[in-house]
Amino acid sequence: MAIRQIVTVGDEILREKSKTVTVFDGKLGQLIDDMIETLADAKGAGLAAPQVGVLKRVAVVSTDGETLYELVNPVIVKRSGSQIGAEGCLSVPGKSGYVERPKKLTVEAQDRFGNPVVLKITDPYTSVAFCHEIDHLDGILYTDKVIPDYKPKKKDLE
Ligand code: CO
Repeated sequence: MAIRQIVTVGDEILREKSKTVTVFDGKLGQLIDDMIETLADAKGAGLAAPQVGVLKRVAVVSTDGETLYELVNPVIVKRSGSQIGAEGCLSVPGKSGYVERPKKLTVEAQDRFGNPVVLKITDPYTSVAFCHEIDHLDGILYTDKVIPDYKPKKKDLE
């Protein structure tokens, strides 16, 4: 395993659309292992492959430091509810902003071996992290979705 360098805003790779993974080999496993290590080192909640300079539809999410989701070719197939919460991004250091996201999700993806997985996400923070990371795979940054001059309310996610 190795810690990879996280690219930051201004790097055009963050604006590109990632490619569907079709080969489930050791190289993919290595990428995912490196992303997990890089995420832990950066103390983040999620990391998408373009953030380490790889345009593949791969992301890792861990919002509680224990449960780890490895997402290959993730697609949100169902979303429900709405919440507004503060978001930041490892590729946009030192900044945060309020974004509206669904509260619950159903996501179809594959594991590192190509097996299909269906994930029902009910934790609000995890739902935000999934949406944020999947956006990265389409070249979308949370800063594109920030509500300008938003005044946080009590019910919002911190
Ligand atoms: Co991000």
